[in-house]
Amino acid sequence: MKSLIKNQPLTKLFLISSSLCAISLFLFLTILLFTTSNILILNIGNSSPQLSTESSPTTIDHLIFGIASSGISWPKRKKYSKLWWNNKNMKGCVFVDTLPVEENDIKINIDDVSLPPLCVSEDTSNFHYTYKPGGLRSAIRVARVVKETVELNHSNVRWYVFGDDDTIFFPENLVKTLSKYDHRNWYYVGAYSENYEASHVFGFGMAFGGSGFALSASLANVLAKVFDSCIRRYSHLYGSDARVFSCITELGVGLTYEPGFHQVDLRGNIFGLLAAHPLSPLLSLHHPDITDAIFPNMTNSNSLQHLFEAANVDSQRILQQTVCYERRFSQTISISWGYAVQLFQNNVLLPDVLRVQETFKTWKENTVMAGIYTFSTTKLHHDPCKRPNIFYLDNVSSDKDGIITSNYKKSFRNCSYDTSKNLEVIKVVTNKLDFDSKQLQAPRRQCCDVLPSNSGHLMEIAIRECKYEELIYMH
Ligand SMILES: *[C@@H]1O[C@H](CO)[C@@H](O)[C@H](O)[C@H]1NC(C)=O
Ligand SMILES: *[C@@H]1O[C@H](CO)[C@@H](O)[C@H](O)[C@H]1NC(C)=O
Ligand SMILES: *[C@@H]1O[C@H](CO)[C@@H](O)[C@H](O)[C@H]1NC(C)=O
Ligand SMILES: *[C@@H]1O[C@H](CO)[C@@H](O)[C@H](O)[C@H]1NC(C)=O
Repeated sequence: MKSLIKNQPLTKLFLISSSLCAISLFLFLTILLFTTSNILILNIGNSSPQLSTESSPTTIDHLIFGIASSGISWPKRKKYSKLWWNNKNMKGCVFVDTLPVEENDIKINIDDVSLPPLCVSEDTSNFHYTYKPGGLRSAIRVARVVKETVELNHSNVRWYVFGDDDTIFFPENLVKTLSKYDHRNWYYVGAYSENYEASHVFGFGMAFGGSGFALSASLANVLAKVFDSCIRRYSHLYGSDARVFSCITELGVGLTYEPGFHQVDLRGNIFGLLAAHPLSPLLSLHHPDITDAIFPNMTNSNSLQHLFEAANVDSQRILQQTVCYERRFSQTISISWGYAVQLFQNNVLLPDVLRVQETFKTWKENTVMAGIYTFSTTKLHHDPCKRPNIFYLDNVSSDKDGIITSNYKKSFRNCSYDTSKNLEVIKVVTNKLDFDSKQLQAPRRQCCDVLPSNSGHLMEIAIRECKYEELIYMH
């Protein structure tokens, strides 16, 4: 059995076992039919891609994932898929060039419910790769993940979602966001990079691959059919995402931009990016190997696990930014739910709180457009004492009435005169956030109140919907 696994591409194994299942299911159903009645009309065919034409709400069952990896990369990066993948309700494959060397990995991938199955990509040696300054020809294989994922022939598909093995998805938010769009129409949903130069060069109309993107099943089915003939015209391009983009462009379709996808072409501390998340559900993060751990004093993967502790309690609220003002002490408090609370010791107008603080470093130094981003940024104050105090998520819990409490603990700040010295913990109370169709189409930020407290070391805040004419400012 071991040698069989070693020599057989896993896709083939899965094919064999799934067709065996289909045959026995067929026999079983036939027997059932003969022994009961034959009024039932069964549709157990599963051989060609099918569109779900129901108008029922979109659920995770309607999504198929295609993840690009390689035999070398997967053992190191599967920990990132583990953060969000669940075999119980997710379908798709991780595409590798060759199976990982360690047999354990193969076995774990078959047994472990928190990892997607592996598929071995088809041979691409008859495609040319002519990008000159030395790109990687694996771009062709990775681009073809789109086609090969469609050709897994899953039924009842509404959306195909693609990403890299270091893309971290937030599945519930993906489902919510995609449910805005009618999957029977042709949609290409994704985002360009934070890095201005990269977006300028590769295209503001291209969904960057690392941030992940989604194709409606109706578009993906057509794209899969024409893909190989199309990508031959693009052998001169660098990456896989540019190939996919080019072929979708040839079909006459443009990008539907969703700001919740994050390519994270940034280095160092991405606090500023996360703390000022747009008013839209968080869909993905990328490049966890390159950026710092998002919580202090934790490893990269532990810090992401910590973020998922909050996402698992209220996925749609994760990183949503709510700002309140404490008039008595002239404080501005910005909550990036499930991640951090910032306490400014002055009145900061809302548009200024919402700018992205440049806590990170640029992707490439010494280029003309280095340090220019595709969003508004603000520089960190050179004096640490003039920067906000940051309280990072400690824990989240939900009670039986659905009230969600999250606690944030003060982190170290290199400042000798700290006016909020005694304040150690900020406690935030909310209801579960549900981006209903109104909130998805035309989102409005929520409001918050600092609750009266007689403890100097604890501040309590309640988040609620804003009143009809309410303005968010220091009253
Ligand atoms: C999917 O269907 C196509 C066309 O019927 C077929 O050629 C292909 O082998 C099928 N793939 C799988 C994985 O069943
Ligand atoms: C970081 O964690 C270590 C070990 O848990 C602990 O000893 C140390 O005090 C922590 N440092 C900070 C700044 O929290
Ligand atoms: C949650 O965090 C708060 C503040 O950091 C702490 O006081 C409390 O004990 C924690 N609760 C649990 C259950 O760990
Ligand atoms: C704190 O700030 C001072 C002055 O800006 C600097 O010399 C010192 O190295 C800093 N210490 C830490 C731990 O960052």
